[in-house]
Amino acid sequence: MIQTVPTTPFPDQKPGTSGLRKKVRTFQQPHYAANFVQSVFDCLTGFEGQTLVLGGDGRYLNREVIQIVLKMAAANGFGRVLVGQSGILSTPAASHLIRASGAFGGLILSASHNPGGPDEDFGIKYNVGNGGPAPEKVTDAIHARTLVIDSYRIIDADDVDIDTIGSSMIGDMAVEVVDPVAAYADMMEQLFDFAAVREMIAQGFTLSFDAMSAVTGPYATEIFERRLGAPSGTVCNGTPLPDFGHHHPDPNIVHAKTLYDLMMSDGAPNFGAASDGDGDRNLIIGRHCYVTPSDSLAVLAANAHLAPGYANGLKGIARSMPTSGAADRVAENLGIPLYETPTGWKFFGNLLDAGMATICGEESAGTGSDHVREKDGIWAVLLWLNILAVRRQSVADIMQAHWAIYGRNYYARHDYEAIAKDRAEALMAALRDQLTNLPGTSNSGGRVKSADDFAYTDPTDQSISRNQGVRILFEDGSRIVFRLSGTGTQGATLRVYIERYIDQNGNLGMETSEALAPLVSAAQEIADITGFTGMDRPSVIT
Ligand code: G1P
Ligand code: ZN
Repeated sequence: MIQTVPTTPFPDQKPGTSGLRKKVRTFQQPHYAANFVQSVFDCLTGFEGQTLVLGGDGRYLNREVIQIVLKMAAANGFGRVLVGQSGILSTPAASHLIRASGAFGGLILSASHNPGGPDEDFGIKYNVGNGGPAPEKVTDAIHARTLVIDSYRIIDADDVDIDTIGSSMIGDMAVEVVDPVAAYADMMEQLFDFAAVREMIAQGFTLSFDAMSAVTGPYATEIFERRLGAPSGTVCNGTPLPDFGHHHPDPNIVHAKTLYDLMMSDGAPNFGAASDGDGDRNLIIGRHCYVTPSDSLAVLAANAHLAPGYANGLKGIARSMPTSGAADRVAENLGIPLYETPTGWKFFGNLLDAGMATICGEESAGTGSDHVREKDGIWAVLLWLNILAVRRQSVADIMQAHWAIYGRNYYARHDYEAIAKDRAEALMAALRDQLTNLPGTSNSGGRVKSADDFAYTDPTDQSISRNQGVRILFEDGSRIVFRLSGTGTQGATLRVYIERYIDQNGNLGMETSEALAPLVSAAQEIADITGFTGMDRPSVIT
């Protein structure tokens, strides 16, 4: 029976680029999740009888919210929901399922790389029919709706068994519990030369993949161990846990330290990789060789033609503004366009839909292509493995060879976390006030060539996004970028992106910290980070 439940709005349900992310306790308030889901449905038209894809990264509250969404989707008139078995779907697999099933859209339950558990984070994100995150006009409409909602519709029914593959009904709506991995793994097998990778592994190539007790465990086990023949144990932390085993499922050298230490040790395997909570990010480390995400994007783009799915070449490369310029040089060399977009995957989606770009990436360890409309961690790992299987060189040798052709973009990101919001905003405001005065001045980083607040005109629809981060460009090609995170759940996070370019004839073998030291000082001088935040060093350097 359909019930209409009276409710009152919550003032804090503003979805960001990655959906609505809040503490689990916030989501546990009566009606909180249901209010948001109803607000999403209220902003959509034409979904009656259509398909909704549903799944999440397995974090705490995943199963409960899946049941709520199923009962609400039925009460609102969806014809069918495809739900990943046990409520599991990685973000890229959900994107693929939406596209492959012709679904109207999908709800992905995740807070990405944020920790999970009763005191940690949860999230709900709506993706549209192209498989990508809802555009801003949709999320704005959802937010507006959350502020006035006064009831939601839900079916009074027993919970659905989401652990057994098969079909059942809630009211008039079909619920199909599907294998979350199979279709995704099949797609990967189309894109990459699995036979070549299997042969490389059979000949003794070793790898270690850290699933961080998050969603990629089942995907990695099926693909790396079963389909590619890597020995069991290749996938570590392979069972998705509601609290990710108390780990922070963010695949960087800080939070994936165990993998990093293994890769730097004497007994390191040939290749190491990790993915995040919901499977869209990646970390790539060769034996004794960490690859920055910006460099990884450049190497993948330069070598993508070695994989069957990209044998015809790339239409274009897109990177977010704070991502290093390493990919720009590859695009130039290939004679294809390079798009510099604001942070966040949704800007890439438009370029991919328009057929203007094939490969996209962000410095925050997100890389992907036009195969789905989300970034994709396992995809990046497989493209690396395909390249290694063809080139038969080590990761370190591939990096050296790459820099010898294109030069090297030394790069690091410094995050200052949990700053009081007003302090962080004051710092950015002070920076913006200096923009016109900075050019021509000198500091530890050298002479400033130009300074601006990044604005982007989307070439697909001419829409303009302003205030996307302050860029300070130096005469020698170095760069410092300041922006505030849009995804944090506690206070504000200041991100400082530091980049120094050395051409192919320069010193390509420095330590990154050594190469960047003058620019790190310059960032302090220009933004007075310590003065504004009271912090004398970043919380995290990646
Ligand atoms: C962060 C990353 C950004 C990524 C986003 C979603 O956003 O920096 O590249 O698209 O997470 O995964 P931020 O917190 O910087 O706004
Ligand atoms: Zn993620």
